[in-house]
Amino acid sequence: MSVAPYVAPAVVSTSVFKDDIFKGKVLFCTGGGSGICRGMTEAIMRHGACAAIVGRKLERLTQAAKELSAATGQKCLPCQADVRQPNSLRDAVAKTIEAFGRIDFVICGAAGNFLAPISGLSENAFKTVIEIDTLGTFNTVKATIPHVRASRGAYIHVSATLHYRGVPYQAHVSAAKAGVDALSNVIAVEEGPHGVRSNVIAPGAIAGTEGVDRLGPKGDNKRDNPYPLGRMGAIGDVANAAVFLFSPAAAYVSGQVLPVDGAQEHLRSFI
Ligand code: HXC
Repeated sequence: MSVAPYVAPAVVSTSVFKDDIFKGKVLFCTGGGSGICRGMTEAIMRHGACAAIVGRKLERLTQAAKELSAATGQKCLPCQADVRQPNSLRDAVAKTIEAFGRIDFVICGAAGNFLAPISGLSENAFKTVIEIDTLGTFNTVKATIPHVRASRGAYIHVSATLHYRGVPYQAHVSAAKAGVDALSNVIAVEEGPHGVRSNVIAPGAIAGTEGVDRLGPKGDNKRDNPYPLGRMGAIGDVANAAVFLFSPAAAYVSGQVLPVDGAQEHLRSFI
């Protein structure tokens, strides 16, 4: 007897946590103006937190902040900064402290990506992605750590599953995200004694994101049913993982990588 694959609804948020678990808390999220990071920010705000969203495009951030506030009833501050520039991040942190007085949670989510073979990558192209993803994570941690220590807070770093194997045209991102995973582990052990936790979320293919729309397989390159759970990931799936990792339910979870990919990484074909 053949069994139809289970297809769950691609919802935006299905958090089962109490509404006010993040009341009085403040989130600082790089890359929060769009995509997965915006979704995580919304979910955390829905549980009572205020947020600062950080990115390069002020217009997009301002619009996103308005929409996030309207959707959640919480304050959201747009902060223009480039994670490659430590001074601009320090300014964004100062603005956040001025507005909200504290930072409890940080999502290091700003990332850059494009498809290119190593033979087609210039030195500057490789460096650019390392600078946004890996150095940008380091810069964000440096700028926020005194405040996260003060609140005994937590980090989530947004990585990927690409670097577990060799994914063509992704040398730059694979190297950058491997560095992000390693940084998170060191933050977890160095900052643990200060009450700070650090974890990584590694999303798989998530519907409705720039990463998948622009970089995902197209036409004949699409494999049949590459999803063990019968569907692509949704932004809400990643947001739910972020709510868990920042919540008291994850108080003893640190130095971990949590793939949110519906077991896609484990799927192998026979040939
Ligand atoms: C080869 C390329 C290239 C391409 C850019 N470069 N695009 N090389 N193929 N398609 C080269 C440029 O020629 C230049 O090198 C260098 O990279 C820097 O490019 P700039 O455009 O000057 O940099 P910048 O304006 O800072 O833009 C950064 C960027 C850009 C990463 C290149 O794509 C970007 O900011 N994108 C928006 C964010 C984004 O990509 N989000 C999606 C993340 S998704 P030269 O030698 O000419 O100076 C994600 C999930 C992955 O990360 C999962 C996928 C399934």
